[in-house]
Amino acid sequence: MTTALSPIDSAKLAVADRASTLIASGMKVGLGTGSTATLLVKRLGERVRSECLDVVCVPTSSATAGLARDAGIRLATLDEAGWLDLTIDGADEFDPDFSLIKGAGGALLQEKIVATASSRMIVIVDASKQVETLGAFPLPVEVLGFGMDATMALLEKVLVTQDVDGRRIVPRRKNGELFTTDEGNHILDLHLNRIGNARDLSLALNQIPGIVENGLFIGMCDTIILGNLDGSVETITASGDKAETSGGKRAGNVRPAGAE
Ligand code: A5P
Repeated sequence: MTTALSPIDSAKLAVADRASTLIASGMKVGLGTGSTATLLVKRLGERVRSECLDVVCVPTSSATAGLARDAGIRLATLDEAGWLDLTIDGADEFDPDFSLIKGAGGALLQEKIVATASSRMIVIVDASKQVETLGAFPLPVEVLGFGMDATMALLEKVLVTQDVDGRRIVPRRKNGELFTTDEGNHILDLHLNRIGNARDLSLALNQIPGIVENGLFIGMCDTIILGNLDGSVETITASGDKAETSGGKRAGNVRPAGAE
């Protein structure tokens, strides 16, 4: 007996399928982390097996590395692979400028390093991730355990200077303990409600020495593959082109800033 997928899960599957078709033999590909990226990894594994696709992939977390290995995908470290052709990853929010919030899975640091070392970053999302203004989703910030209280105190001061609507800082926990990232750091979730200027906020956060990196990805993503809840899939590029729409009725329209 098969269980029907929810519209969101169907959308995630559809965008993962679409993204997997952009990967060709000979490519070096960064693999993101999270539930949507997991579907991509599985689909890519099927293609590697059935089409003998010859790709080398760099995972963005230990979780994705494990999944990719199980799927039979050849892996390399970023240093072994060097520059990547593309990275495909999920996101927690994206805005009309293709700025992103990422890190709900706790892997933002490797995700940002890998995406930055790639010629292209393609983001695969269901329509629930589309926002006009970032910030309803708590912004993850990776911090060192050393001096974490001092880091939080500095962070409170910095947030007062920022154009945001909330300033609650919540250390992320798992099973009662502070959540620990693959790098042995911790995550603070910033409940900001609205981020008025993502670029300023990102720069200000990264001035605090105890902050390793933040979950704002600005100017990195060039293509969004968006799964609408009616089953249609849209590929939208940062130039404003809507490359393709398929399946279902088109619902919702994403126009990057500056697009006609
Ligand atoms: C992982 O750290 C995150 O950046 C994910 O890419 C993001 O949370 C999206 O995950 P889902 O695909 O599970 O929504």
